[in-house]
Amino acid sequence: MERIVLCTGNAGKMAELKALLPPSVQLLGLADVGLPADLPETGHTLQANALQKARFAHERCGLPCIADDTGLEVDTLHGEPGVYSARYAGEQRDAAANMAKLLGALHGVQDRRARFRTVLAFIREGVEETFEGRVDGTIALAPRGLGGFGYDPVFIPAGSTLTFAEMDKAAKNAISHRARAVEALVRSLTARYR
Ligand code: IMP
Repeated sequence: MERIVLCTGNAGKMAELKALLPPSVQLLGLADVGLPADLPETGHTLQANALQKARFAHERCGLPCIADDTGLEVDTLHGEPGVYSARYAGEQRDAAANMAKLLGALHGVQDRRARFRTVLAFIREGVEETFEGRVDGTIALAPRGLGGFGYDPVFIPAGSTLTFAEMDKAAKNAISHRARAVEALVRSLTARYR
């Protein structure tokens, strides 16, 4: 049995990854290895933050570690809020305030192209790898839908008329940035640990 630490305090991310990994992998949370739920992330790119969190945990527990970072990149805002998506409207990390600020910044703007991007870092015995997933789309004129979390009510994936928050969970998970990054990681782990 290979034990791997997932560096998140988010139970949803834990369950999502657990369901996708081969049965020979036992997924542990930060608390299982005596680490705090919030690891330092002070980088200026998604990749830097994912690696920072995975390194922090790996250096302390010695086990293989996975960490992720996600951002919403809006073309006309030169990629903002990007790596700062969680705190776009302030330290309180409030989804409604973040969306209100984003819609304000795009008021009257025609070009609403954007993408979600997730970077997953995996470190095992000091060897570092990263995997990326993205989904392109546009920012809606106003929030729509009750599902999902974060920026889901204002993100319309390419090829859909619905926002992520209007889609059911399975439909979002079939195309989401995080699912695509996880698939790339799982392909690599499955080849190694089956
Ligand atoms: P984190 O890297 O998962 O902490 O996410 C950074 C920011 O992006 C937070 O504001 C999240 O709410 C937002 N975010 C991450 N994934 C998604 C998603 O799938 N849909 C909508 N917002 C997301």
